[in-house]
Amino acid sequence: MKNSWIGGYEEYKRCQVDLTRRKITVGGVAPWFQSGVIEGISKYILDHVPHPELGICHGVRRGHEVEEFRRHIPGRIIGTELCEEAIMSCRVRDLVQWDFNVINPEWVGRADFVYSNSLDHSDRPLKTLEVWVRQLAPRGLLFVEWTVWHNRSDNPADCFCATREEYELLISSVANVKTILEFQKNRGKVKRHTFVIVAQG
Ligand SMILES: C[S@@+](CC[C@H](N)C(=O)[O-])C[C@H]1O[C@@H](n2cnc3c(N)ncnc32)[C@H](O)[C@@H]1O
Repeated sequence: MKNSWIGGYEEYKRCQVDLTRRKITVGGVAPWFQSGVIEGISKYILDHVPHPELGICHGVRRGHEVEEFRRHIPGRIIGTELCEEAIMSCRVRDLVQWDFNVINPEWVGRADFVYSNSLDHSDRPLKTLEVWVRQLAPRGLLFVEWTVWHNRSDNPADCFCATREEYELLISSVANVKTILEFQKNRGKVKRHTFVIVAQG
């Protein structure tokens, strides 16, 4: 487990925003999430949370996963993103320019599910997870995505690297890990294996 961020907090936020700004300016940078993974998580949510009313996705860039969840799940789904330009450059509704490390009193205890594939962009993953868990409604579920790339860093914004087991351990220190969902997609010779750790507060 490695938290490679050594600067201050304002610098951390600037680094995240700069990278995202660069990505949206270059264009053509595909969303990280995979539709099949969001579909699988949605099925799990519908099987375990009878009438989801609120979902929160954290670190969504232009909010494509928010839209993907909306294809499967009724109720309100919102997304947080640090980079305002990313939100302003898309037409997805209910995206909020918000630091996912910060408590929003309006969301505490309200979310039927919280999803993120961006924990590797946190400079304080334990605190981040505590904030996300506090957002869960009593039967709400937390979904945190892990792939091998979450244990590698090719730029300073990917500041938290950890193995899947370390993710599990960290999450289990703030919530009860219920299960791990697995998804595999083969594109030519490239295999993408995604694990989603499911936890309850
Ligand atoms: C790897 S990208 C993932 C984007 C999106 N989830 C996807 O699947 O395409 C990580 C995103 O998290 C955002 N981010 C980083 N730190 C954040 C923070 N503290 N609060 C909110 N968003 C943050 C970045 O700006 C970036 O858009």
